[in-house]
Amino acid sequence: MFTAPLVRPAFLRDVPAITAIYNHAVVHTTASYDLEPVTEASRLAWFEARQADGWPVWVAEQGGQVVGWATFGPFRAKPGYRFTAEHSVYVAPDAQGQGAGRLLMTTLIAEARQRGLHSLIGGVDAENTSSLAFHARLGFVPVAHFRQVGRKFDRWLDLVFVQLLL
Ligand SMILES: CC(C)(COP(=O)(O)OP(=O)(O)OC[C@H]1O[C@@H](n2cnc3c(N)ncnc32)[C@H](O)[C@@H]1OP(=O)(O)O)[C@@H](O)C(=O)NCCC(=O)NCCS
Repeated sequence: MFTAPLVRPAFLRDVPAITAIYNHAVVHTTASYDLEPVTEASRLAWFEARQADGWPVWVAEQGGQVVGWATFGPFRAKPGYRFTAEHSVYVAPDAQGQGAGRLLMTTLIAEARQRGLHSLIGGVDAENTSSLAFHARLGFVPVAHFRQVGRKFDRWLDLVFVQLLL
């Protein structure tokens, strides 16, 4: 039976699921330019830093399982960039195509607007046509294409920045 996904703020106890979903993308795809799986301890430190700095993390749940997560944080460090944030969104392969990603992003966009942010940016590997199509459905527009700035799986990777003006 199909259960609709729901989105809620992430808790410390969600870190193992967040780590597993992220590591699947690290090992099998160019969605992340990390080369090796991250440890749960490093994700825990990342989560605590996000909380300490006041940046949100959400999870999507489906049938009682965490099936995805999303966050946004600083785009670049200098204070002139304070109205721009960079986001990440990951959904477990089995749960993709069922609306969890859209729900995570609409939550994220609403929160960004509420905080008075002006612009959201995502860095998407140019080969990741699913993510490019997904972001286009949510109103993001490609604004920059960096050639061969990444290297993974023995090949050069192009990075596309997609942007939503809020
Ligand atoms: C990209 C990703 C987050 C999308 O999440 P998802 O839960 O599968 O997406 P949804 O089911 O919510 O789809 C939302 C919309 O995007 C569209 N979309 C999603 N995947 C698509 C694809 N592969 N091709 C075309 N459109 C797609 C859907 O048709 C849907 O459109 P609509 O709601 O306007 O009808 C997910 O596939 C994922 O985690 N991929 C691996 C990690 C990754 O690439 N993360 C992004 C890094 S930048």
